[in-house]
Formats: sequence, C-alpha cells, structure tokens
Amino acid sequence: MKLLVTGSSGLIGSEVCLHFAKQGWKIHGLDNNQRAISFRPQGDTRWNQRRLKTLIPDFVHHEIDIRDRQGILDLIENLQPDAIVHTTAQPSHNLAATIPFDDFDTNAVGTLNLLEATRQFAPSSPVLRCRNYDST
Ligand SMILES: NC(=O)c1ccc[n+]([C@@H]2O[C@H](COP(=O)([O-])OP(=O)(O)OC[C@H]3O[C@@H](n4cnc5c(N)ncnc54)[C@H](O)[C@@H]3O)[C@@H](O)[C@H]2O)c1
Repeated sequence: MKLLVTGSSGLIGSEVCLHFAKQGWKIHGLDNNQRAISFRPQGDTRWNQRRLKTLIPDFVHHEIDIRDRQGILDLIENLQPDAIVHTTAQPSHNLAATIPFDDFDTNAVGTLNLLEATRQFAPSSPVLRCRNYDST
C-alpha cells in the first residue's frame, strides 16, 4: 500500500511518515522546504528529510511545491497512491498576516490542487487533511 504524505519534512508530516512506515506502508513524501524561506534560517527542514531517508530506507521524496498545479496532477497520476495525508501548510498566524496571498495559495489553493488531482486520477484514495488554523 502506497501512502503519500505532503509536508513530509515538517513536524506532523514526518511523524506520519514514520508511523505508517512501521505499519508496512510504502511512503512517498512531498515537500519543497518552503519552511526554510518562511522561517529562515531556523526553518530549514532538510535535516528531517535526511532523517526520514535514514529511518525509512525505501522512503521516496518528491520535491514539489503544493502550489504547482500541473506538478501535483502529474504526481498523483503517476503515483496512484492508496491514501494521502495532507499536512503541507504555512502554519504561522503571524506570518499569514504579512504574506496573505502566499498563505492562501499554500493552504487553500494547494489543498484544492491536491483534491482535484485525486478526484481525477486516484478517486478511491482517501485524503486526510491535518486540520489547519484556517480550517482548510
Ligand atoms: N504542530 C502542531 O502542534 C499542530 C497541531 C494541530 C494541527 N497542526 C496543523 O498541521 C499542519 C502541519 O503543521 P506542522 O506543525 O507540521 O507544520 P510544519 O511547518 O512543521 O510543516 C509543514 C511542511 O510543509 C512544507 N511546505 C510549506 N509550504 C509548502 C509548499 N508550498 N509546497 C510544499 N511543501 C510546503 C514545509 O516545508 C514544511 O516541511 C498545519 O496545517 C498545522 O496547522 C499542527
């Protein structure tokens, strides 16, 4: 069974990866280290991406921006995941007030990109959204 975890280098996403890998799922992560741009330099998540590769030897990382609509369509069409856990987020309230369009594009439009790609190419795959503060 293939699980796609978006935001896989983040706090919640990385733990989701580890949890389901232990249950025998094949894990595909999606993250573009956006956190390094939003919260530089402390936000860099490459260490967590490396940690996943060490702890889950067959972990596959997809370096895709959730806002990249065609990239998300191509990924879901090619991957055909059995389930998706969507934790990609711009998670900061304070930052959201200073970058409203980026915040909306990641949290709302990014979620829509994923849902529409799933509807088109993997309609039986459930999508679980880690609840965001803006309820996307
Ligand atoms: N941390 C908590 O205690 C907590 C509790 C409840 C809910 N949540 C929710 O869970 C979700 C994840 O939270 P978190 O704490 O893991 O956040 P996080 O910032 O640690 O992880 C988010 C990940 O998404 C990636 N990302 C951001 N923008 C991206 C983009 N455009 N394309 C691809 N990847 C992108 C970041 O690089 C980062 O690795 C959020 O919706 C948050 O509101 C978190």
